[in-house]
Amino acid sequence: MTHTILHIDSSPLGDRSISRRLTAQTLTELQVKHPESAILTRDLAANPLPHLDGMTIGAFFTPPDQRTAALNEAAKLSDQAIDELIAADIIVIGAPMWNFGIPSSLKAWIDHIVRTGRTFKYGIAGPESLLPKGKKVIIVSSRGGMYSESPMNAMDYQETYLRAVLGFLGLTDVSFIRAEGVGMGEEAVKSAIVLAESQLSQAIEQVA
Ligand SMILES: Cc1cc2nc3c(=O)[nH]c(=O)nc-3n(C[C@H](O)[C@H](O)[C@H](O)COP(=O)(O)O)c2cc1C
Repeated sequence: MTHTILHIDSSPLGDRSISRRLTAQTLTELQVKHPESAILTRDLAANPLPHLDGMTIGAFFTPPDQRTAALNEAAKLSDQAIDELIAADIIVIGAPMWNFGIPSSLKAWIDHIVRTGRTFKYGIAGPESLLPKGKKVIIVSSRGGMYSESPMNAMDYQETYLRAVLGFLGLTDVSFIRAEGVGMGEEAVKSAIVLAESQLSQAIEQVA
């Protein structure tokens, strides 16, 4: 089966990044399984999306046939990011935990893709996804501490937030790979990576 994979990285740490190392491993394994797949990479550290400004939000809420050239220009980055999301049937996201949440670069991407009239709308029963169904999301997270168990799991706004916002868009088939405790020394990093690699191989086994 041929897949279109959207690969998103947000760590600014290049070769030292654990989430980047694991998203790369994910792509390698997906390519071994499905060599014909196309990969589109969006590097949010190298090419950050800007924070939403008033002009851009104005463009989002102006029907396309009423937009001026300036408003069309303001919506362009968001349109591109949404087109990539629509085209992909597998989305691989590298998400470091920063201050119990996600880096602002990744949040900026989310602000550009969660857009009424393009990726969701409010119907009479509440929010409805406008995205094509059947997309698989693999999120590779890396965290200095351990959040899988109480009491620290109450501080995990990274996984809870990502699941909530992606679920809002109808993206509910999400595998969350966790490299945890990577701030606790070299041995902890090694075992976190081994565990995360086995989690990601299991996630890839489920990909048809
Ligand atoms: C700005 C910043 C904030 C961080 N905040 C947290 C945090 O709240 N909790 C945590 O467990 N680790 C935190 N860390 C550690 C990172 O999650 C950890 O180093 C992880 O490996 C980063 O992903 P990366 O290696 O892909 O860059 C933080 C690191 C940085 C640079």
